[in-house]
Amino acid sequence: MIPSETIKKVQTLKDKITEADYKYYTLASPDIDDYKYDMMLKELGELEKKYPELLTEDSPTQRVSGEPTKTFKTVQHKIPMLSLSNSYNFDELIEFDKRVKNILENRKYEYVCELKFDGIAISLIYKDSKLITAATRGDGLKGDDVTQNIKTVRSIPLSVKTSTINNFEVRGEIFFKKDEFIRINEEQELKGEKIFANARNTAAGSLKLKDSRIVAGRTLNFFSYFLYSDDVVLKSQLESFRLLEELKFPVNKHYKKAGNIEEVKIFCDKIEILRDELPYEIDGVVIKVNSVQEQEMLGSVSRSPRWAVAYKFKAKEAETKLKNIFCQVGRIGTITPVADLQPVFLAGSTISRATLHNFDEIERKDIRIGDYVKIEKGGDVIPKVLSVIKERRSRDSKPYKIPDKCPVCSTKLEKPEEEVYYYCPNYNCPAQIQGRIEHFVHRNAMEIEGLGESIIDIFLEKGYIKNYADIYDLKDHKDELKTLERFGEKSIENILNAIEESKNKPFDKVLFALGIRHIGERTAKILSTNFGSIDNISGASEEEIQSVHEIGPKIAQSVAKFFKDKKNAELISKLKKAGLKFEAEKKKSAGKINDKINNKTFVLTGTLEKYKRDDAQRIIEEFGGRVSSSVSKKTDYVLAGAEAGSKLDKANELGVKVLDEKEFESLIEL
Ligand code: IVH
Repeated sequence: MIPSETIKKVQTLKDKITEADYKYYTLASPDIDDYKYDMMLKELGELEKKYPELLTEDSPTQRVSGEPTKTFKTVQHKIPMLSLSNSYNFDELIEFDKRVKNILENRKYEYVCELKFDGIAISLIYKDSKLITAATRGDGLKGDDVTQNIKTVRSIPLSVKTSTINNFEVRGEIFFKKDEFIRINEEQELKGEKIFANARNTAAGSLKLKDSRIVAGRTLNFFSYFLYSDDVVLKSQLESFRLLEELKFPVNKHYKKAGNIEEVKIFCDKIEILRDELPYEIDGVVIKVNSVQEQEMLGSVSRSPRWAVAYKFKAKEAETKLKNIFCQVGRIGTITPVADLQPVFLAGSTISRATLHNFDEIERKDIRIGDYVKIEKGGDVIPKVLSVIKERRSRDSKPYKIPDKCPVCSTKLEKPEEEVYYYCPNYNCPAQIQGRIEHFVHRNAMEIEGLGESIIDIFLEKGYIKNYADIYDLKDHKDELKTLERFGEKSIENILNAIEESKNKPFDKVLFALGIRHIGERTAKILSTNFGSIDNISGASEEEIQSVHEIGPKIAQSVAKFFKDKKNAELISKLKKAGLKFEAEKKKSAGKINDKINNKTFVLTGTLEKYKRDDAQRIIEEFGGRVSSSVSKKTDYVLAGAEAGSKLDKANELGVKVLDEKEFESLIEL
């Protein structure tokens, strides 16, 4: 029997989390803080674990699955997913309008203008008000079932509350916002993983990842633009938008009714100016005939509707000379080729560098030093080299030769067979040392402002620092530092202050700063929440790490490997001495800090007389403790009630302190 309050509690938590998601991701006006949100999600997860009968498919905990998908099933689209015919100038739009006018004869038709999002089309099928399938466009007739990954998109409702419409299909676009794409790439770089070329392809790639935990670490976004249902008669595109909004789907606010093609042009011109200011990429405007009846009269030809057209903005491209190709060495030794270009002005800035990603790419595009190349600045962080203008190639040009030595330390490069990257295997390569330090001080990590690339370089060269832990000794060289050329006394003072201040950074930031491969900010936070301290993490086995929700084998392996390395243990011990935080802080209710409980790990077992398990857990957490589900050496207390089973045996076996209810009460000073 499940207590009725628990049933209610679970429903309330689900509703509150869903509402918080809607406010945050769709309305962009959050009203609760992250901590509260995380705690609600955690509580819901625990209740569902305890009462699996209460777990439903549309629970917010189900947005991330613990298990990777093996294959993507094929989904047949009920209505084909058409594509749009393109127009590139106003004359072509007038041609489109003429065709519409011809077919609709004397009718007075209207258009709706929308943004053309540069993302991936997706179809969402809702049955009995619940999201059951999400599929990509594929060939337009059948696509891939990517439901598990789509569930991670928090602006997509897992279920809708409505009485009017239960079975329906929503279509729209999945994409990354510009800042999220930059963040992902920064994180990729910080994690020592490959940099993505553009937002659209990354969104497509993310949807096809087998592990939804990775997808959940990237905030995908969604705008809906179509609604089909047999339950209601929708007369127009504008009516669809209204209903979509009512159902709490995200609808982009930049849509506009246009009475004629002139008004369409005004909208297109306005949007082209607005384009760079938008927080997401668009590549044009979509113009649709508003009335559904008229859409049906117009029909479609060869996979494109006659009632809609895309007005595409011009691509931002330029031609320039590739002067040279040089190689950068990342913090884990990754070699990235970079194009050194004859400076050229493109879409608002002068470009003199472009990424070449990797050597495969150079070979595939046959890019040679001295070539004239087409470069593009699109949804990309860094401009990229699109192609070579072969007609302008000089006769004596030679194919690019991949270097065999590290450009910094001359160690012979290595290439793991299954990867596209070449690596410098030398841990002591100056570029890697510098890279690790830059990562450590990065604003997303320890945030030591003022300690930039060039200063780090000088400190390394002068021998003040050899690794990131040495940063905390810099204060002992204060007088010497102040005599350094090029730096004022004030700037040294500021750096030293920033270093001291960084000691207040929470544990998850410290964990991220350590530069463990594959550990991004989000993973660091998950590890910090679940283990509570560096000792708990370093003491955990690979299996224990992997048993944490959202942590996969690659991460677990990398964490375990990092802590096994003596060099890293030394760095950590030095950082500990410096006073950095290696334990997660628990948010406590004011005045309730209790040292006997603060930062201690409890395991609850058996039936308590006075307290429900949830209450006991809440009390422990309020006093700053943690409740874990299994007993290990790291457990501080096992609180055992009646009929305690194997957990009590394990506690006795490991010599973990066992408390009964009375002893627990004396601990909390009740
Ligand atoms: S309507 C038949 N509306 O453009 C109607 N599509 O070339 C087709 N797209 O696959 C879809 N923004 O991925 C529509 N506001 C918008 C759109 C949009 C972007 C994409 C979509 C589609 C492609 C068509």
